[in-house]
Order: sequence, then C-alpha cells, then structure tokens
Amino acid sequence: MSSNEPATSSEHSYAERARRHLWMHFTRHSPYYNGEELPVIVKGDGCYFWDEHGRRYLDGISSLFNVQVGHGRVELAEAAAKQAQELAFFPVWGIAHPRAIELAERVASIAPGDLNRVFFTGSGGEAVESAWKLAKQYYKLTGRPTKHKVISRAVAYHGTPQGALSLTGIPAAKIPFEPLVPGSIRVPNTNFYRAPEHLRTDLYAFGQWAANRIAEAIEFEGPESVAAVILEPVQNSGGCFTPPPGYLERVREICDEYDVLLIADETITSFGRIGDYFAMSRFGVTPDIITCAKGLTSGYSPLGAMIADDRLFEPFKEGTNTFLHGFTWGGHPVSSAVALANLDIFEREQLNARVVEHEDLFLKSLEELRDLPIVGDIRGTGYFYGIELVKDKDTRETFSDEESERLLRGFVSKAMFANGLYCRSDDRGDPVVQVAPPLIAGQEQFDEMTQILRSVLTEAWSII
Ligand SMILES: Cc1ncc(COP(=O)(O)O)c(C=O)c1O
Repeated sequence: MSSNEPATSSEHSYAERARRHLWMHFTRHSPYYNGEELPVIVKGDGCYFWDEHGRRYLDGISSLFNVQVGHGRVELAEAAAKQAQELAFFPVWGIAHPRAIELAERVASIAPGDLNRVFFTGSGGEAVESAWKLAKQYYKLTGRPTKHKVISRAVAYHGTPQGALSLTGIPAAKIPFEPLVPGSIRVPNTNFYRAPEHLRTDLYAFGQWAANRIAEAIEFEGPESVAAVILEPVQNSGGCFTPPPGYLERVREICDEYDVLLIADETITSFGRIGDYFAMSRFGVTPDIITCAKGLTSGYSPLGAMIADDRLFEPFKEGTNTFLHGFTWGGHPVSSAVALANLDIFEREQLNARVVEHEDLFLKSLEELRDLPIVGDIRGTGYFYGIELVKDKDTRETFSDEESERLLRGFVSKAMFANGLYCRSDDRGDPVVQVAPPLIAGQEQFDEMTQILRSVLTEAWSII
C-alpha cells in the first residue's frame, strides 16, 4: 500500500500511520490501540530532541545510550554524504575498502593491550555473537576443541540474536524463544546494594566473592568445557552495577588460571560513557575481546565491532583456516566514515576527559535525590547512573511485580516524558530509572534532569 499524503489530518499523522504499519521493537503495542498517542520524534539538536508537535525533550539516555556527541552534528551527516557519493557500499568479504581499513587501524590504536584485530558487525548483538563463535573456533583450532561454554552474569543483557540471547541473564526475555543455544552459564553480578547480607559492608570482599563464583562455575562445568566469560565492565541491565575494586583483576586472574577468554561487552560502556574509549582501560584490566557498537558512530549510522587480541587471530593466518562468519553491513563504508568523523570529534572536543571532569558534578546533582523516600540507591560512574526505587528504604524492600508495573510503566516513564525528560525506567532487575546523557551535557542538563526526577519521583511515592 502506498501512502504519500502529507501528515496533516490526524488520520495521516505519523502516530496513526505507525499504528497501522510499524512494528516497534520491545514494544507493548496495546496502549496505542486504546487511546494512547505514540510519541514521534522528528528532530534533534545537542542534548535535546523534539516531537511532531514541537515539544522539546532532554535526551537523558542519549537516545539508546549511543548519541555520545549529541544530536544534529552536521559534520557527521556530511561525512556520510561524502562517503555515499564516493563509494556507498562494498563489503569486507575478501576485498577491502579504505574506510574499514582506516577505522580498524584507528580502533586498534585506542583499544587496550594487544587488542589489534577488528572484526566489524552491524550491531552490539552481532558483536557478541561473533565473540562467542570466535572463542569456540579459536579453541578448536588450537587443540582444545571441547571448550565451548560461556559464563555470563545474572540480569545482564547481551542482545537478541539467539547466541547473545542465550548469554543474557534475564529469564523473561528468553522464555518466549526457548530452546536457545546450549552452553550458557550464569553467575552473580556486582549489585552491591543487593549483596548477600554478610557482605553488605565490605565492597572489596563482595567483589572477591562475586568473582570467585566464576571460578566455582568453571569448576562445576569442567574447565575443559568453558571457552569464555562475558561481562559488562559496568552492567547496564539492573541499573549500572559498577565493578568493586579488585573484582575485574580477580576475574582476569581466574580466566588466566583456567585458560578461559575474557570478553568485555562494551556495547554501552565504550566511547566515552565511562570517561575513556573503553571502560576496561579506565579500570586498568585488559580483556581478550571487546564487543562494542552504539557510541562508535554516536548512532549516526549503524556499526558494531568485535576487537580481538592479536593471539586470537594467529590461527587464522594459517592455510585454509577461515572464520566462516560475517555480515553484509559489517564495516559498511558510510558507517565507517561516520565512525572516523565521530572519533575526530571525540579527539577535538576531548570528550573522554570532559566526562572524567564532569562525572562528580553529575553524581552530586543526582545525590540530591537521596532524601526522597522512594530512592533506595544511586549508582554508576561516568555519564551512566541508575536510581533504584524501593518501597522501604530501611529494609530495601522492593516492589511486587504488580506494583512495579503500575509504578514504572503506568506512571514514572510517562510522567518523565510528559515533563520533558527522556530517561529509562527498567524492571528487568529491581526497578530502576537510568540516566546517561550525551557526553556534551553539563551542569545545566544535570540540574534540569534532577529537577524533573525529583518532581516525578515525589509524585510517584504518593500514588503507590
Ligand atoms: C551490553 C549490551 N550488549 C549487547 C547489546 C545489543 O546491541 P544491539 O541492540 O546493537 O544488537 C546491548 C544493547 O543495548 C547491550 O546493552
């Protein structure tokens, strides 16, 4: 069906046209058949975007944790246009093109340790998928063919392809699609607020305890069957769980001891979110593989990458050995050109240093919300924070599923948006509100965010 009428009457509004044809992702569609209007965003500039009615919103989570340099950057649009005119598309299948080569070089130069081999994908999920497949094949090619399992953490999200989804630690996201890929094992995450009672006053001990659960899982499964551990340096799902001091070091030690690869899923935490190109660099621990996407292009064009340690590529230099894996869009010339221009902005505007310089001010603003009875915890680092909502501050009692549904979906998300703040309410773990603004945000945006959060969370308390 073709429909070229301008969006003037309500019948032809974007919202109505979306209702008829657009299948949105991770979206409960029923509200839009029951009178709720679908917000439609038509333009962005800096830390803000506007809907089709001209209402302005502060982009409190960088759209989907990816618009690092802010909206409306003409030079990124120009880089895309220039590349599309010169060479719109060529794959990196057996033949290469300059932008993928330049970007691989550039990414290798900013990645930690010997992570010098860059395999491009179209997304974060594809990068995770690639990492698991590489881990399996690497061990097959190097004489340890039974190593294939991967250990991941509770409540972590690693994407939607079936391998990445298997590694995801959110049962509700997996059940509709089971059976998934076998060989995925879960261990505890680093949510200190929900640490076992006896470890609640000792962050270091908690970190060691959590890391040692990985060693225990490897022993249970049999080290000869385990290929990798995958974790986010700061876990998004569940609300910004930072690594306790010593935790990542201990995980690295365990991986070395058992000959298991450490995969850092930096789909969210890379490209400035934590104040460095890669959060693992900020934390001073080098993984064997990094997966990334999102901020690599600041969302101006789709692109992801799996960055592997040199030694993992060694077997693929030999004879007929081939990583029989790839994607049409991996290393897309337009996306690669955008990523290069995006990294130019990072360098010119010193965005990583900017985050380091401003992160305490951001946290200080958010900490003002601690006096609210509904705010149980505020955690995170860089430009990446989660606010956990609780029913009882003293006991840390959380909300029931029904209360959480009413609170988060029924009120908090909508009220934030109605008040001009786009942030994320999430109950994949305990209920949290997350904020992760573009890296160009400063005190003005911190204040605006905190003020809207205060007003909405105050009202939320009165309705539960
Ligand atoms: C840690 C992590 N891994 C993987 C993914 C999947 O990325 P994509 O949606 O680009 O496939 C996400 C998405 O948010 C993520 O946060």
